[in-house]
Amino acid sequence: MILVTGGAGFIGANFVLDWIANSDEPVVNLDKLTYAGNLETLASLKGNPKHIFVQGDIGDSALVDRLLAEHKPRAVVNFAAESHVDRSIHGPEDFVQTNVLGTFRLLESVRGFWSALPAEQKSAFRFLHVSTDEVYGSLSKTDPAFTEENKYEPNSPYSASKAASDHLVRAWHHTYGLPVLTTNCSNNYGPFHFPEKLIPLMIVNALAGKNLPVYGDGMQVRDWLYVKDHCSAIRRVLEAGKLGETYNVGGWNEKPNIEIVNTVCALLDELRPRNDGKPYKEQITYVTDRPGHDRRYAIDARKLEAELGWKPAETFDTGIRKTVEWYLANSEWVRNVQSGAYREWVEKQYDNSTKAAA
Ligand code: NAD
Ligand code: TYD
Repeated sequence: MILVTGGAGFIGANFVLDWIANSDEPVVNLDKLTYAGNLETLASLKGNPKHIFVQGDIGDSALVDRLLAEHKPRAVVNFAAESHVDRSIHGPEDFVQTNVLGTFRLLESVRGFWSALPAEQKSAFRFLHVSTDEVYGSLSKTDPAFTEENKYEPNSPYSASKAASDHLVRAWHHTYGLPVLTTNCSNNYGPFHFPEKLIPLMIVNALAGKNLPVYGDGMQVRDWLYVKDHCSAIRRVLEAGKLGETYNVGGWNEKPNIEIVNTVCALLDELRPRNDGKPYKEQITYVTDRPGHDRRYAIDARKLEAELGWKPAETFDTGIRKTVEWYLANSEWVRNVQSGAYREWVEKQYDNSTKAAA
């Protein structure tokens, strides 16, 4: 039995679905079901005894203590977080609450449970913390990609809160001996991605005939990894990672945002052409930049490849095609996540979307 937190979100749900498809080991899935948590993503697991879903907060110590005592997991994989940079700029408090305080409380509950385990189970236990490359800050065009040795220089409320959580995890290992592992991954994309993030937003807006809002000059670089490859990396680190170590996860796919948007447009031109025959890229609109926008992220994943033999299965070309096809085939999932709360967010964030960037 493993305990997954945040398993109704984008990456956590992909992880749970893949885990249950490939293993007999059951999963307890603890998720608060914020706007980003979506049980519809897990609909295929309905009635499956290998999946136990519990709605709740990682910061609810009484609940987490009870779940640990009842299910006695051999590992905890912590995905639960507030994850959207733009939201962290509008309202950082939820990020501190869940990513910092929530992780702290979860660590304390896990420490209490782990300390009381018999020796053999104690040494086999793992706490895997899922983090981001954004903790390393921003690179210039010519800087080498982030390695695990880069110092932490977070720039947004989101990345600062994730950096804080990584530090807590590290300290719980050094101080209390908790058997932890941390992964720092680049930008994910793929099925079940909430359409507030770049790639799903562009697909959804393009199909709806809306503007495709590109921040600033669109030349910010991100390193993209297909979500299933992130999940396979986490499984591998959980299986064979060295205690207390951190592992960067990335796909060697650095691309400027405008190239991503053009690629999505070209795939849609091919797979679902516009009724008027015009290209989707006509919908691209440059909008005011994100404050403090990090210019470039790039991950050096050689440690994970060399020490644990992990490699991504998808190239960017194969992964992005699968992703666009998935969104075309799952319009109902998209419609259902576009709730009232989602529409309010879009209005708040993109009220200036017709304003040209300075
Ligand atoms: P997401 O926002 O899609 O999902 C987060 C999930 O956590 C949601 O289901 C939400 O309901 C749940 N949650 C939020 N607060 C909670 C709380 N207090 N208690 C319990 N559950 C709570 O995020 P994601 O994109 O799936 O990211 C998952 C993890 O991976 C995060 O820790 C994020 O920092 C990290 N990460 C994400 C990316 C990316 O590109 N999306 C890249 C690297 C690392
Ligand atoms: P995002 O998907 O929010 O991930 P992150 O900020 O964690 O990297 O954004 C990816 C990149 O796309 C980032 O440089 C911001 C940019 N972006 C836009 O240009 N327009 C948008 O509407 C969004 C959501 C993001």
